[in-house]
Amino acid sequence: MNNHSPDVTMAGRACVHFSLLPPSMRVTYTLTLLVLGIGYIFAMIHVLDSHAGRDGNPMLSVNDLIIAYSGSHSDTRLEIALKGPMANMLPPEERARVFAWVRGGAAKDDYQTIVRPIVEQRCMACHDGSNPHIPNLKGYENLMTKVDLDTGMDVFTLVRVSHIHLFGITFIFYIMSVIFCHAQLRPAWIKCLIIGLPFLAIIADIFSWYLTKAWPPFAWVLMISGALMGLSFAIEWIVSMYQMWFYNSAPAITDTLEP
Ligand code: HEC
Repeated sequence: MNNHSPDVTMAGRACVHFSLLPPSMRVTYTLTLLVLGIGYIFAMIHVLDSHAGRDGNPMLSVNDLIIAYSGSHSDTRLEIALKGPMANMLPPEERARVFAWVRGGAAKDDYQTIVRPIVEQRCMACHDGSNPHIPNLKGYENLMTKVDLDTGMDVFTLVRVSHIHLFGITFIFYIMSVIFCHAQLRPAWIKCLIIGLPFLAIIADIFSWYLTKAWPPFAWVLMISGALMGLSFAIEWIVSMYQMWFYNSAPAITDTLEP
């Protein structure tokens, strides 16, 4: 054995520039980037589809995120259902009467004369309590369980989505980082920053879901961490693709000297 350390050689080889990689590996990386890029676009469409417009404005805004995570605090679940999935269950003028009743304080006397006939005629086919999967709206007390303020996504849903996001997004950015480490970018700390940011952003993102419930301005952290994640993804994607196929000027450069 000579005194050439095998560890240093391996470390150098692990991060050689794209132009030194065999074509099979570049094809693997390129197609992986292509599929992940398309996936990212669909993820963005999903985010817009499920969050944008909650505040009445079609663009995705901080208000939309606040409503999604901490609730609207101005509409009750009954109103939200009647504006959304239950909107077609009754004619608009009856719906307006139910809204007026809720806004007027949801008094029991008015329930008997104004709301009860509507609910019994329009809603009891499904909401009479016979189906355990559909909320029972029979009688004043049952209906009143839906006349509380909307408090946003419940914690159990958040916990379920949190673990899916933490695992899934870590996989995506681990793969992105392994590809991107073959790029040439100086100074080295910029490359480390671009690689590290999305991992920190996903942690900030997940925790701000819960914090937004407690304190709505945390929705800004949510918005900014999402934007940083997208920015890192875009830089890693574009730089990797470009250097893989169009940038052969510095074939000897490796990352051996990086700390
Ligand atoms: C054809 C059946 C059907 C009719 C008629 C119907 N609903 Fe529903 N409703 C459902 C189902 C199913 C759900 C559960 C949907 C879900 O959980 O996503 C539901 C859910 C709801 C919820 C719960 C929303 C929540 O956040 O918990 C409310 C409130 C509601 N309906 C109100 C009404 C009112 C008021 C009427 C009458 C004007 C009505 N529904 C008529 C089937 C119906």
